[in-house]
Amino acid sequence: MNYKEQYSAYLNQVESYLLATLNNLSVSAPSTIKSAMNYAVLDGGKRVRPVLCLAVADILQLPFDRLKEFAVAIELVHSYSLVHDDLPAMDNDDFRRGKPSTHKKFGEANAILAGDALLNYAFELCLSKENFNALDAKALKLFAEYAGYDGMIAGQILDLESQGKSGNSDLLYQIYFNKTAKLIMCPILIASILKDGQYYKELYDFGYNLGVMFQIIDDIMDVEGTLQSIGKTPNKDLLEDKLTSIKLFGLDGAKQLAKKHYDNCLHALKNIPNNKFLLELTQSMFDRRK
Ligand code: IPE
Ligand code: IPE
Ligand code: MG
Ligand code: MG
Ligand code: MG
Repeated sequence: MNYKEQYSAYLNQVESYLLATLNNLSVSAPSTIKSAMNYAVLDGGKRVRPVLCLAVADILQLPFDRLKEFAVAIELVHSYSLVHDDLPAMDNDDFRRGKPSTHKKFGEANAILAGDALLNYAFELCLSKENFNALDAKALKLFAEYAGYDGMIAGQILDLESQGKSGNSDLLYQIYFNKTAKLIMCPILIASILKDGQYYKELYDFGYNLGVMFQIIDDIMDVEGTLQSIGKTPNKDLLEDKLTSIKLFGLDGAKQLAKKHYDNCLHALKNIPNNKFLLELTQSMFDRRK
């Protein structure tokens, strides 16, 4: 299988389990919350986080059934983070994944609640795993930490606090590590934890650099993309005076920085066996413009 075929194969596994998970929402729950949850998650995401989880699991020879709940739960939490990120109180974006953002479609209160609901449902899903064991508990703890107040949420707070101010590279890295890299490292590290920490250090280095590179490319797309190509409002970072790689280093400087983290990814992957898919995924995330 070539890279594209392999990505689609992982994507099919992810999409069908994601759909099954959302079809499993309790019949007694209000239809509004279920519709908003479905809307926020389905149609449009690249699913790069769950795909990474499956790809690392393959390298470590972990079967899909051993971590499917984690892979999909991370996508639920990522989707919740996007719903809240788009709220008027945060980045105030009317578009996401090529359609009106969740608060535009369902109203602000329902969007806040849908985000909250996805977060809880993600943990419920992981805890419903058959034969949940001590390694699953360790993986779930990392997930909670990386998504939490000293993880993704910390990054979002610092991102908002640094709006309209001058900042430096240390602060930028603190923001990117937390708001973006941690949710990208999470699926990679969870696969390792479930295999007793195999290649943890190498995968940590790979995930960290991939995550930071991913956010820098996102910054570049904000400048170079269109509503149609990126599915969200372009030039938003400049408009909101966000502290970004572009603001600190300019467009060319940001591209050089992305290349540095791309090289770091390749370096980390050298020590990981059967790395072909991850190498190509890194390339494709570096080249991406959507
Ligand atoms: C967007 O993430 C938010 C960032 C962390 C930059 P993605 O680019 O993975 O968004 P979707 O899931 O494909 O919509
Ligand atoms: C988003 O960063 C990070 C999270 C949602 C945690 P951005 O604010 O740059 O993401 P986009 O550009 O709105 O997707
Ligand atoms: Mg944001
Ligand atoms: Mg945003
Ligand atoms: Mg952005």
